[in-house]
Amino acid sequence: MTNPFLSPKNQERHPFSSPSFVEAIPWSAMQRTIQSIISYLGGKYGLVWILVPLLEWAAKQYGLKSYVEATGGGGRCLLNLDRGLFEQRVYCEIDYPVCCLFKVLGNQNLTKELVTRLSWTDYSREVFEAAVAAREQDNMLAEKGIFNRDWISAAANTFIAAQMSRAADMKVFDDFSKRSRYDKFYNRILELERFTPILSGVDVVRWDCRRLIRSIEQGKEDYSPSQCLVFADVPYDPNEMRNKKPYAYSWDVDDHINFRELIRCTNTYMMVCGYDSEIYNDLCNDGWTKIFLMNKPVSSSGTDRRAKEFIYVNFHIPDEVLAIISPDIQVKQRAERPRFPL
Ligand SMILES: C[S@@+](CC[C@H](N)C(=O)[O-])C[C@H]1O[C@@H](n2cnc3c(N)ncnc32)[C@H](O)[C@@H]1O
Repeated sequence: MTNPFLSPKNQERHPFSSPSFVEAIPWSAMQRTIQSIISYLGGKYGLVWILVPLLEWAAKQYGLKSYVEATGGGGRCLLNLDRGLFEQRVYCEIDYPVCCLFKVLGNQNLTKELVTRLSWTDYSREVFEAAVAAREQDNMLAEKGIFNRDWISAAANTFIAAQMSRAADMKVFDDFSKRSRYDKFYNRILELERFTPILSGVDVVRWDCRRLIRSIEQGKEDYSPSQCLVFADVPYDPNEMRNKKPYAYSWDVDDHINFRELIRCTNTYMMVCGYDSEIYNDLCNDGWTKIFLMNKPVSSSGTDRRAKEFIYVNFHIPDEVLAIISPDIQVKQRAERPRFPL
């Protein structure tokens, strides 16, 4: 059986010749609760129940050994994947203090220090503003190749900036809902130790994901591109999300086009996640498949605005698998297809 959605080029790299699929397991059958360390703007908390079953299915179907979360952020897929499934797990993020949080939580002693530090922290505007300023300074230095070795402080500042900010933007102190968030802040601190078994053994890298993807393709640092699954939940495409510049590291149109060209013919397995985007739709001309996931609220701030979330994949996911993982996907994906004929 040949895959009608792969161009000859990709067909060679990702042959899909067997009509039998490994079993797809829906989230409801996994009996897991969704894990999340911090609120994260643009995070995929609301999509974990679709993305994790798809990623796990792909790993088993194609015999993949490495999982790379290329634009880590709150790392929701990484946190919720079966940790025994991949021999190697990598968390990559350009924001250095965010990396420090994931690095610290992978280590028991460092996590204890972080918990103690945060437990003694006031929930206040002053503390928030100091954390935001320190994060900016750490990122500025990291760009010059100077890395703050005080991981605990950098991790604490990230936790504070995320948990005390409005809609997790790490910029504006959330005065309005301060009271309701106060308890949540301290309760979350007490839960941090449960992430250590999940994150222990994860390689945390503060890198530009484009550099990491090039390394994977070249088989550097023990990567085997044909056994690697890269998940990239890229920053917003500014064409599709006007007036949004949320991250310390946002991408402009040229960044997205360059990234698209970098991955277009990649020899590794890739899933790119984001809103509907003309830039990424172009990948469908080169054998990628665009799959509609769901209409998701744009922020966690309680507004009604919603946007359609998609994934773009360069490997074959049969309709039967999509139907098992989320019966809704199949119907909606069919409705989308005529717009992007291959
Ligand atoms: C949409 S968020 C990821 C959210 C994450 N999937 C979650 O569920 O929480 C995109 C992330 O990409 C990061 N980022 C931006 N440019 C990057 C780059 N060149 N390399 C790696 N990460 C980058 C941003 O700092 C941001 O944390």
